[in-house]
Amino acid sequence: MGSMTCLVTGGAGYIGAHIVASLQDHGYRSVAVDNMSSGIAARIPGVPLLQADISAEASIEAMAHFMREHQVTAVIHTAALKSVPESVADPLSYYRVNIGGTINLLEAMKLAGVTNFVFSSTAAVYGMAKGEVTEDSPTLPINPYGESKLACEDLLRSLNEVGQVRAASLRYFNVAGTATDALADNFATNLIPQVLRRIVDGQSPKVFGTDYETKDGSCERDYIHVADLANAHILALKAIVNAGSDWAFDVFNVGTGTAYSVIEVVERAIAASGASVELEVDARRPGDPARIVANPAKIHSVLGWHHSHDLDDMVKSAWSGMKALNAN
Ligand SMILES: NC(=O)c1ccc[n+]([C@@H]2O[C@H](COP(=O)([O-])OP(=O)(O)OC[C@H]3O[C@@H](n4cnc5c(N)ncnc54)[C@H](O)[C@@H]3O)[C@@H](O)[C@H]2O)c1
Repeated sequence: MGSMTCLVTGGAGYIGAHIVASLQDHGYRSVAVDNMSSGIAARIPGVPLLQADISAEASIEAMAHFMREHQVTAVIHTAALKSVPESVADPLSYYRVNIGGTINLLEAMKLAGVTNFVFSSTAAVYGMAKGEVTEDSPTLPINPYGESKLACEDLLRSLNEVGQVRAASLRYFNVAGTATDALADNFATNLIPQVLRRIVDGQSPKVFGTDYETKDGSCERDYIHVADLANAHILALKAIVNAGSDWAFDVFNVGTGTAYSVIEVVERAIAASGASVELEVDARRPGDPARIVANPAKIHSVLGWHHSHDLDDMVKSAWSGMKALNAN
C-alpha cells in the first residue's frame, strides 16, 4: 500500500486507538477524527486529531479539508454510539450519529477524492440468530443500534456498486482485552470489563441465567482480542487497495469461532484477578440468545486473517488495564 495515510474516525476510542497502533506497526501513518465523547487523547499521542462531531453538517467540509491536508488515501470508520439499551431509549441519536455521521463522512470523502473504506459493523446485525453465524445468515437486527449499522452496510454496498467507494464491513463479535494498559477499554457495559469492575469493587460478578440449553447452562459467545481485530482492518484495507476498481463490497465476521460460556469467562476473570470472590447467579435477561458464535471461514480464506490471542490473553490484559486505570 506504499506510504498510505489512513484516517481513523473514533481514533481515540478503544478499538480505534488499537487500529492506529496496528497501522503504525505496519508502517502506515494515521490521522484521527474524534469528538472525544468517549475517546481519550492519551491513547494516540502524536497522531494529528481533528476534534469534530461527524454528525454535524459543518464537519463535512472540515473532514474533507483534513483529508486533503494529510493526503489521506483510506478511511477506517469506527466512530459511533454503541450502547444497545441507550439505542432503544434514544433511537434518534443513534440514527443521527451512526447513519447521519456515516453519510457526512462519505460526503467528505467524495469531496476529498478518497475511496478506500473499512467499516466497524457488529454481530448485532444478526439479531436473535442462534448458534453459528455465517455472513449469509439473515440480518434481522432487534434494536436501533444494530439497525443503524445494517443501514450503513446497505449504503456502502450501493456506493460500491457505482464505484464511489471500495468498502468492506467487519462484523465484530465480542471485543475484549487490550494491547497495552494505556489502550484499555473504559466502557463497563461489555461482559469482561463489567465483571472486572465488580471484582475491583469487591462485589460478586453476576451470571444472568444458568438454565439455557448450553454446555453449562449460561449463554455462550464468541470473544475476539482487540489486537487481532485491529489487524483484520489492515488486511481488509490491503485487499481493497490490491483489488482496486475490481473490489466489490463485502462483509466479514471477525470472531474466533470458539464459544465460551459466561460462567467460563467469569471464572477466568476471577482467576486472572486473584480475588477470592464467587460468581453470583441471577435471572435471565430478556433478549439474550443462548448461543452466538462466529463462523470465521470467510475472513480466513479471503483476507488470510487468523486470530492469535485466546481468552486468557483477553482476560489477563483487561485486568492489567483495569488496574492501571484505577491507579491513575
Ligand atoms: N466494543 C465492542 O465490543 C464492539 C463490538 C461490535 C462493534 N463495535 C463497534 O466498534 C466501533 C468502536 O467501538 P469502541 O468499543 O472502540 O467504542 P469507543 O466508544 O471506545 O470508541 C468510539 C469513538 O468514537 C468517538 N465518537 C463517538 N461519537 C462521535 C461523533 N459523533 N463524532 C466523532 N467521534 C465520535 C468517541 O469519542 C470514541 O473515541 C463502534 O463503531 C462500535 O459500534 C464495538
